[in-house]
Amino acid sequence: MSQDQSPPNFYYFLCNPGSEKFLKEEIRLIYPELAFAYSTEGFLTFKETRRLGKTLRPVFCRHFGKFIRRGSYEEIRSKWQGKALYYSLSGEIFETYEYQSGDWVKEIIKVSDNQYYFGEFKSGIFNSPTPGGFSTAVLPEEAPSRAYLKVIDGMKYMGVNLPAGDTALEIGSSPGGATYALLKQGLKVEGVDPGEMAPVCMENPNFIHHKVSIQDFHVSSLKDHVQWLYVDMNLAPEGSLREIEKVVDAIRPSLKGAFITLKMTKFELVSRVPMYLNIMGKMGLKVVMATQLPSHKQEFLVYAE
Ligand SMILES: C[S@@+](CC[C@H](N)C(=O)[O-])C[C@H]1O[C@@H](n2cnc3c(N)ncnc32)[C@H](O)[C@@H]1O
Repeated sequence: MSQDQSPPNFYYFLCNPGSEKFLKEEIRLIYPELAFAYSTEGFLTFKETRRLGKTLRPVFCRHFGKFIRRGSYEEIRSKWQGKALYYSLSGEIFETYEYQSGDWVKEIIKVSDNQYYFGEFKSGIFNSPTPGGFSTAVLPEEAPSRAYLKVIDGMKYMGVNLPAGDTALEIGSSPGGATYALLKQGLKVEGVDPGEMAPVCMENPNFIHHKVSIQDFHVSSLKDHVQWLYVDMNLAPEGSLREIEKVVDAIRPSLKGAFITLKMTKFELVSRVPMYLNIMGKMGLKVVMATQLPSHKQEFLVYAE
């Protein structure tokens, strides 16, 4: 029997600083074919010790690719003069270009002053739409919170367009960064949160505040049919999912998509991520993607339709 003599593949992953331990654990549990090789803040590499038997797409990363070589910038450029994205781990974008879904894209990542990685990734839903998965969004001064960026980054990552005039239900809407982003897109928003909403949201005629916790909220008090669901509560995932189940059940006929942020309130939750995705499936939602966004802290987004 012939043996595969080709050198082993290495993969690199970019995650938000602070999420390295989640990614490492996720790979250990879900992709045992990959052995940890190296990490620095926001960047990890793994060696393929056995053939990967499934599509690679960990939740706790923004972007990943297949390692080709590393060295100084000059060494890498001397062997590759073609088009490549070029950026640093701190988010400086030195070179970029337009590519299409399905393209294999080369990239040079500045990991430190004298260490550069050269690799490639296949562009598409499983990988980031921006170099390194860094955000291209700008937080407006008047946005009530940084959660504004989660809406913009989430739409961009999923390639989803929210048409003006649609209605979004946001659970955990205070102080209003995400609501403000949705209102700016021309959506009508109904927010559920016992906390105060910023005046920039309250004064907008397209916003309705249901100032109660989700446990006390009755879906019959919704003023409109809901096309988009946003959830961002500071509750453990089990609590968030339990509370949104009754809402999803009621709004499913008109629902086009759900952006659900789940908080990693403790490290042990990594092993439960597949179960969370399963629970959403049982609610009748089709999970399209689960990923970390550049605007996330210890949390991740599940986008479902
Ligand atoms: C991370 S903040 C949300 C940020 C907000 N989406 C924004 O864009 O500014 C979490 C919110 O969840 C809300 N929350 C926590 N438990 C809740 C519950 N049971 N029902 C409704 N909201 C809840 C909190 O009041 C808090 O405002």
